[in-house]
Amino acid sequence: MTATTICLINQKGGCGKSSICFHLAGAFAQTGLHVLLIDSDPQGSLSQGFFGSEFVEALPPELTVAALLAPEKAGFGERRVIQRTQFDGIAICPANSHSARLNTPAPETTGLAQFALREFVDDLTAFDVILVDCPPNLYRCTWSAMVACDWCLVPVPPEDFGTQGLRVVHQAIEQARRLNPGLQCLGHVVTRSDSRLLVHRAYEQRLRELYGQSVLETVIPEFSAFKVALACRQPVSIHAPRSAAAVLTKQLSREILDHIAMSNKRTHVA
Ligand SMILES: Nc1ncnc2c1ncn2[C@@H]1O[C@H](COP(=O)(O)OP(=O)(O)OP(=O)(O)O)[C@@H](O)[C@H]1O
Ligand SMILES: [Mg+2]
Repeated sequence: MTATTICLINQKGGCGKSSICFHLAGAFAQTGLHVLLIDSDPQGSLSQGFFGSEFVEALPPELTVAALLAPEKAGFGERRVIQRTQFDGIAICPANSHSARLNTPAPETTGLAQFALREFVDDLTAFDVILVDCPPNLYRCTWSAMVACDWCLVPVPPEDFGTQGLRVVHQAIEQARRLNPGLQCLGHVVTRSDSRLLVHRAYEQRLRELYGQSVLETVIPEFSAFKVALACRQPVSIHAPRSAAAVLTKQLSREILDHIAMSNKRTHVA
């Protein structure tokens, strides 16, 4: 059976893409799913969440995502890129600065290289869910992820009233569909929200007016539990299973799986 593949994209930095990947992986794994994380961001934040920055930066390119994206990847033996983590059910293809040179603008001009990640993902059978964490731009690392995945999820912090940034993200999704017609938008997830702030409540409402049902019901608040768990190198559902942060992450994981199951059912009926 092929895995459900989801990339987390937004060119806005710091909106919680890596944090959601990290903590969602824990929630999925706790329900017995086998999760592969692909760190498609040369910043390597997601990888550092598991292994620390020193270890991750010292990884040679052949053990990182750079081996999947590099034109000379053929000799590397792609499966070596998949590393175990300290948690059952969570594996990761880590990234570090070796992939920075590969994250070029105008990725649509790179020919067959656009499918490099797709080929890798299509060959994997050992995972139920694959989450791809993307950098805060729409260059090659994000493009390859959109070409490789069935779904994209857009984390949005409720702060910027302008929808300009999101429009560009949606244009990129449309463009990626030319190569990957199966790419669907799972939706927007409001992140880092503080419901005490009027501006946050107002932005969330505006987002729901603009994007309707494609804004997920689950909202991820700004909770220190997410940061503390990350600092302890544990997804929050493992570090603080009874915390509100863990409960909401679980709720998000269920909403995502329900959404995908419903969509698959509709496709079947049609
Ligand atoms: N819901 C949250 N509550 C508290 N802290 C959060 C939350 N989401 C993210 N953070 C923290 O905010 C910082 C930025 O988050 P994160 O790295 O996930 O953003 P990002 O979108 O991946 O950034 P980039 O675009 O640079 O990759 C991190 O320190 C992270 O731990
Ligand atoms: Mg990130």
